[in-house]
Formats: sequence, structure tokens, C-alpha cells
Amino acid sequence: MYKKLIIAIDGPSGAGKSTLSKALADKLEYLNIDTGAMYRSVALMAQRQKIDSHDEQALKKLCADLSIRFVREKGQERIIVNEVDVSDAIRTPEVSLLTAKIASCSSVREAMLDLQRQMGQEGGVVLEGRDIGTVVFPSADVKFFLSATAEQRGLRRYKELKEKGIKVDLQQTIADVESRDKADTARTLAPLMQADDAIVVDSTQLTIVDVLQKMLVVVEAKQAEAV
Ligand code: DC
Repeated sequence: MYKKLIIAIDGPSGAGKSTLSKALADKLEYLNIDTGAMYRSVALMAQRQKIDSHDEQALKKLCADLSIRFVREKGQERIIVNEVDVSDAIRTPEVSLLTAKIASCSSVREAMLDLQRQMGQEGGVVLEGRDIGTVVFPSADVKFFLSATAEQRGLRRYKELKEKGIKVDLQQTIADVESRDKADTARTLAPLMQADDAIVVDSTQLTIVDVLQKMLVVVEAKQAEAV
């Protein structure tokens, strides 16, 4: 029986984290925790309740009253907030930009940190985000840091949004990716950062299948070591 590992996948937006963590979790039959979706959900609820992104007290209360869980439906991961499926509503460009602001509030980060640790502590999880290997689970069994150029990441996001029927402009999408990178790396609290012991995978020139293969080799070696 293999040990149930905690796998951290960090990196900037559009580096392929979501696709790869889902694929890895599927392959290993692990739970996949998309921490970006959790921050997005807080931003969506703040937007709906017209809470200012600087109002720490109101955000703290919002998080305390929020129930967030992940479910799998027909092979698809859905995020349920206060019993409502918000998986699509959290993906608009407006919510993306608001999330970068909301994610720098200490009360929001504290609440999400607690929740993420609770969800992941038993192992058998793939957590994807920005600060998993550095803050949430600094002693994770395996840490990956995925990267790709801003142009490539913008192009991927542009295609994703277009496929969903959302009207977008490519140059604007690349600019949004760059602006989110800036907000994610410049914030003082849990910024986007590569852990010293993370394995870096640059996906600019690689396919999803190539990257998944690389990751599986590392995970399988770790599982064998941990038996
Ligand atoms: O991965 P994503 O694009 O869904 O993330 C949405 C936003 O949430 C992004 O601005 C970074 C932020 N985020 C964060 O601050 N910490 C995490 N662990 C995950 C996401």
C-alpha cells in the first residue's frame, strides 16, 4: 500500500496547473484542490455582496460564513459555495482581476489557509495554487513549480475563454496575465514564489502529456520511497 502523498503544484496563472493537477489527481485517484478557485469564490461572493476589496472586517465575516467544497460530477470537478455551484461564475475576467486584489487580504488568506490545511492534511491530495509549497504545506511530499512565458499563458487563457463563448481580446488577455503576475508576486502576504525544493517544469514548449509524464515519474519514485 502506497503512502497517500501531499503534492503541491504552484506557478503563475495559465502555466497549466489546473489541467495538470486534475490529470495527476485522476491518475493517482487523489483529491484535487484548486485553491485559486477558492480565492475566486471569495471574490465572487464579495462582488455579489458589494464588499470593498480593502474592507478586511467585512471580508473576514464573509469567509467565516462561507462553506466551500469540491465535488466530482461526471468526471468534472465542481466548486460548491453555500450549496450553489459557482464553477462557471468564478471564471469571468472581472472575477479574475478582483481575485488578485482579494487574495492579498490577510483575513481572506488566513481563512483559506485553515481550510486548505484541513482539506489536505490526510494526504492523497494534489493542491494547486501559488503558495502551497511555501506556506500551506511547506513539508509537502512532492512540490512542482510550473512555468511558461506570459505570451504562451495569455494565449492559452484566450483560447479557454473563447471556447466558453466569452468575448475576449488576445493582447488584453496577455496584459491581464502580466498584471495578475505582478499582483501575485508583489504582494507581501504569501506571494507567488518557488519553494527551494520545488521541481521546476517549464511547459512553454511541452504538451500536457509530456508534462504529466515528467510529473508521474517524480511522484512514482516518491511513492516507492515512502512505502
Ligand atoms: O489560479 P487562478 O488563476 O485560478 O488564481 C486566481 C487568483 O487567486 C490569482 O490572482 C492568484 C490567487 N491565488 C493565490 O493568491 N493563492 C493561491 N494559492 C491560489 C490563487
